[in-house]
Amino acid sequence: MQIFIDSADIEEIRDAAEMGVIDGVTTNPSLVAKTGRPFKEVLVDICEVVNGPISAEVVATDHEGIIREGRNLAAMHENIVVKVPLIAEGLKAVRTLSEEGIRTNVTLCFSVTQGLLAAKAGATYISPFIGRVDDIAGSGMELVQQLVTVYGNYGLDTKVLAASIRHPLHVVEASLLGADVATIPHKVIHQLLKHPLTDIGLERFLADAKKIPSR
Ligand code: E4P
Repeated sequence: MQIFIDSADIEEIRDAAEMGVIDGVTTNPSLVAKTGRPFKEVLVDICEVVNGPISAEVVATDHEGIIREGRNLAAMHENIVVKVPLIAEGLKAVRTLSEEGIRTNVTLCFSVTQGLLAAKAGATYISPFIGRVDDIAGSGMELVQQLVTVYGNYGLDTKVLAASIRHPLHVVEASLLGADVATIPHKVIHQLLKHPLTDIGLERFLADAKKIPSR
């Protein structure tokens, strides 16, 4: 499973990139707004730090507007993937953009029927929002499983990108179900690597190292 970082904060992205654990980045307008910086400036910085797919979301909601924004974003850097909302106008734009060779990440997916249509339209990635489904007492993981199964049944190329991940168990379950990608917040990436026995073991090794005679 590939790992993307779900962040627009360049320091968080740099930290994860330096560990060598991320294959790409996803952003959304809420994440960019949190940085307090202009959208394109943020994207330029991310493209300098990560050499992999970088999802940048359009804010237009009509076919022509989405295409215009999508073309502009894609022209900024070869790694930019255009993030498009899962609405009818969005799917029309996905079709056009994919015919032009522009990669898309169809976002705000909450049902397998939506995911099936996004794949038919030519989406490169589909983003099921696991945490937000769980928030309303649904099962985000069931949605991931359905998408993986349906795409597999028909040989659809669209990659399942598990999004809205809130904790390490989401990552474990998504990987067991065969999600192609998980996009993970910076905090959860660190939770994935943390283990108390590692910390205790390291502390003991360092203490014992001081007892070793120098010669
Ligand atoms: C990623 O592509 C999504 O925009 C993101 O994972 C949404 O996460 P949230 O539900 O925690 O806002």
